[in-house]
Amino acid sequence: MFEYLVPQPPDAIIQLMQACKADTNPDKIDLGVGVYKDAAGSTVILDSVKKAEEIYWHQEKTKSYVGIRGNAEFCRLMLELMMGADHSAIADNRIAVAQGAGGSGALRLGAEVIKSAAPDTTVWASTPTWANHIPLISSAGLKMESYPYYNRETLGVDFEDMLDHLAKHAKAGDVVLLHGCCHNPTGADLSPQEWDRVAKFMKERGLIPFIDLAYFGLGRGMAEDTYGLKTVIDICDEVLVAASCSKNFALYKERVGLIAIICKDAATAEVANSQLGLIQRKLISMPPDHGASLVEKVLATPELRQIWENELTEMRERMRGLRQLLSEALNVQGGEVIARAVKDQNGMFSTLPLSKGQAIKLREEHSIYLTNSGRINIAGANSSNIPRLAEAILNVL
Ligand code: LMR
Repeated sequence: MFEYLVPQPPDAIIQLMQACKADTNPDKIDLGVGVYKDAAGSTVILDSVKKAEEIYWHQEKTKSYVGIRGNAEFCRLMLELMMGADHSAIADNRIAVAQGAGGSGALRLGAEVIKSAAPDTTVWASTPTWANHIPLISSAGLKMESYPYYNRETLGVDFEDMLDHLAKHAKAGDVVLLHGCCHNPTGADLSPQEWDRVAKFMKERGLIPFIDLAYFGLGRGMAEDTYGLKTVIDICDEVLVAASCSKNFALYKERVGLIAIICKDAATAEVANSQLGLIQRKLISMPPDHGASLVEKVLATPELRQIWENELTEMRERMRGLRQLLSEALNVQGGEVIARAVKDQNGMFSTLPLSKGQAIKLREEHSIYLTNSGRINIAGANSSNIPRLAEAILNVL
């Protein structure tokens, strides 16, 4: 039977990782995959996580299953981290929640629940969006459409176009996928005022927000990065949230994530929980626990939590500092728009107005690795290679 399989090209981001790894140029600059790197170019295990791992190593008594919806304490602490411990949706038991295998697993669980509840739902995604959003959500059997978002000339959000498009084409009951912060791949986020308007718009039109919160804590700060999520939950009756601990806890390969479904009432949340359990069972039976237990330990232990908050601040500030340096280096005649965007955007990514040919040229002639769409991961740069990076970008432009 397997001779009938059709070969598939690897995912563009995975392909880029492989190409960069194979490049022997010692001065290569890896701005590809969305993984945080320190000034030495390493993706280290956080100290808070390492300490939690040590405590856990002594305390863990069994590797037996935890449950189909995963580690309940991890889920509770994560909800409190994202929404604030005193949020009424938590007190009212209106939230169905399950651990997902990373943010991707969480997105998939959310998509499957939508499919079970209303199979004809259309999910709207920004143009552009994370390369895996469309395959991941549509393979649950949902229809997907796009709304305008990033303007490749101004390098900002086309907010009015976004709302106009959704007003004209999306129907009540449709789901709108929003990046809670640190938009991947553009770094262009909605302002607090825009979040206020989006939340009201969704409520008035009966649209359901699905917030992907993959980089929270790495944009401007925990409060700022969860403003959109909290605003939407305050205003809309039904919201889905897919959160990831890959980036903010640097737990990439441990696959730690969470899906939260905020429902109209506690009875509906109970049913949604039963659906999440059933879907998880059908997909992977039980989620992995190691990473979730480490996050639980960090969040529940005041000393570890303090260390983690400091580490998160350090990662965030390093990226802001690199943005500032790159922005200054690009701020020459003809580079002003990019310079401003790089400085103002959030998180790991910015999408530069480069053509596919220019991105390939950067790769082939300068050993600078970024996606063909022009996305850079700023954490892959450092203060010593930024002048060369800026020069190469201006050169290909
Ligand atoms: C990225 O966007 O580069 C990351 O989220 C990693 C991935 O799996 O694509």
